[in-house]
Amino acid sequence: MKLTRRGFAATAAAAAAFPAAAQPKPGAIVIAHRGASGERPEHTLAAYRLAIAEGADFIEPDLVPTKDGHLVARHENEIGGTTDVAARPEFAARKATRTIDGQSVTGWFTEDFTLAELKTLRARERLPHLRPESAKFDGQETIPTYQEVVDLAKAESRRTGRTIGTYPEMKHPTYFRGLNLPLEERLAAALRKNGLDSRTAPVFVQCFEVEPLKRFMTLSKARRVMLVGQEAASVDVRTPEGLKAIAAFADGLGPEWPLVVPIVDGGLGAPSALVKDAHAAGLQVHPWTVRAENAFLPPRLRQGTAMADHGDVQSVLAALYCAGVDGLFTDFPGLARPQEYYCVPIGETA
Ligand code: G3P
Ligand code: CA
Repeated sequence: MKLTRRGFAATAAAAAAFPAAAQPKPGAIVIAHRGASGERPEHTLAAYRLAIAEGADFIEPDLVPTKDGHLVARHENEIGGTTDVAARPEFAARKATRTIDGQSVTGWFTEDFTLAELKTLRARERLPHLRPESAKFDGQETIPTYQEVVDLAKAESRRTGRTIGTYPEMKHPTYFRGLNLPLEERLAAALRKNGLDSRTAPVFVQCFEVEPLKRFMTLSKARRVMLVGQEAASVDVRTPEGLKAIAAFADGLGPEWPLVVPIVDGGLGAPSALVKDAHAAGLQVHPWTVRAENAFLPPRLRQGTAMADHGDVQSVLAALYCAGVDGLFTDFPGLARPQEYYCVPIGETA
């Protein structure tokens, strides 16, 4: 039986030992972070397809614009790390240095390419040293547009009979507004075009910046999620008052996961008050990002010898579900099915 020291049963098999006390977490959504990005190059249709096959409820594209105004799925507008652009002589002269949100970045930028030009590139694994199996799929996929991601979600919803949503993130919206390539209006128009401009549509729009989310609220009825990291937060998530202020313009909160289950002494500590306080403010809670490799796990959950080896990610998932989250982002949606995790009330023993 696999229990954390705080009394979480990590798997369905473990829960079978104490069915009376164990309760599955109902209704939590699995958000495939950049697709099944632990197993395929991120932000490709192959990564999204695999995520859906593994049971994901939502697929996450980060969105940046092209020179001609199309929204494409990339984590950042610099594409040297996730495509073959650096090996393409016809684009060598596009290499540039830009200041993006205060950081100097050198490489190739989506805003310097038309969609037709970007479509000639091929995606590659960002972390080949940690994900060599995924890197075997390098060169096979193009950069998808948001429309292609929505089309895939709709087609797979029809095919599987499940509702597959998209969870788009506006990346660097202030920077792109400064280039006259605003994201908010383009995304709102895309949602309208696809019949997704409603409170019940299978879509959440996320952002790390407050003002773009507020602007988006004036453009679309789609649900909004405020992202917050452990460092340098632009909002206050540590007080009930701060969370109430966020609830004025967002439906949900996307915290970095240790804000929900802190890392203490290299392992998992007791949950913070964040979920309880966020729920009291009327906010859903969808933490990010649960990854299986040792490199992304607290030291006491690591297994094997290499940073690429998978550790005890199930304990992280169990702890988050048992803390009451409404969903979570993961690079491994196949490991995160909430129906496979059970919670044992603290104080009870198996
Ligand atoms: O959007 C949730 C999470 O993805 C935020 O981090 O940097 O992976 O977009 P990032
Ligand atoms: Ca994201």
